Amino acid sequence: MVTPGVTVHVVPDAPALADAAAEWLAQRIARTPALTVLVATGQTPMGMYAQLAERVRAGTLDCSGVTAVQLDEYAGLPEGDPRSLRAWMLRSFVTPLGVQTVVPLLDPAAFTGRLAALGGLDVAVLGLGPNGHVGFNEPPSGPDAPTREVALTPESLRSNAAYWSGLTVPTRAVTAGMDVILGARETLLLVSGAHKCAILSEALDGPETPLVPASFLRRTALTVLADRDARP
Ligand code: PGA
Repeated sequence: MVTPGVTVHVVPDAPALADAAAEWLAQRIARTPALTVLVATGQTPMGMYAQLAERVRAGTLDCSGVTAVQLDEYAGLPEGDPRSLRAWMLRSFVTPLGVQTVVPLLDPAAFTGRLAALGGLDVAVLGLGPNGHVGFNEPPSGPDAPTREVALTPESLRSNAAYWSGLTVPTRAVTAGMDVILGARETLLLVSGAHKCAILSEALDGPETPLVPASFLRRTALTVLADRDARP
């Protein structure tokens, strides 16, 4: 069962996912040059961001009016720490796309205030955690969960270890709340790989539950782009 308002596109593989996702966002930036975008890190959107950067280099896309909003950050990292998710967002999205304005996620109150002043999010670009988290809204997280500091679950610590070979994963993080994410005017959820198949099915076909925070995305104008391994 998929809810009305939710569109699911299944593409053959990760490169096709990157193409389709880049096209989805490029169309919106072309329509609304001052788009405010919540930007996920993680492996899944990297191909999409590389495709967008290619378009910017080719002169077919201008992202200079876009505002990039940080989705999540590990807590307690010293300045310049290589594990910073803000640094990852800057090098994968902000710098290569020529984005000029960034809303960092440091202090939840400052972040929430700045977002409100901007009029909220136009678009949220999200990956799907292996435990159903979005951002670091770990299960259980209900739809009203605010921007806050959280303890990471063992599953997230395991999956995040893949990003930082030889380094430990911080055990705490700050995440944009479910309230912020669900307030986006449109949401793009990117899902790739057989290891995401069961959790994607729970998010789309199971009950809405805090145990699968991504299940609440069905309340939004949601586009899911999945490859065939994730959505056979
Ligand atoms: P991934 O992470 O894109 O690296 O799979 C997604 C997530 O954990 O939110």
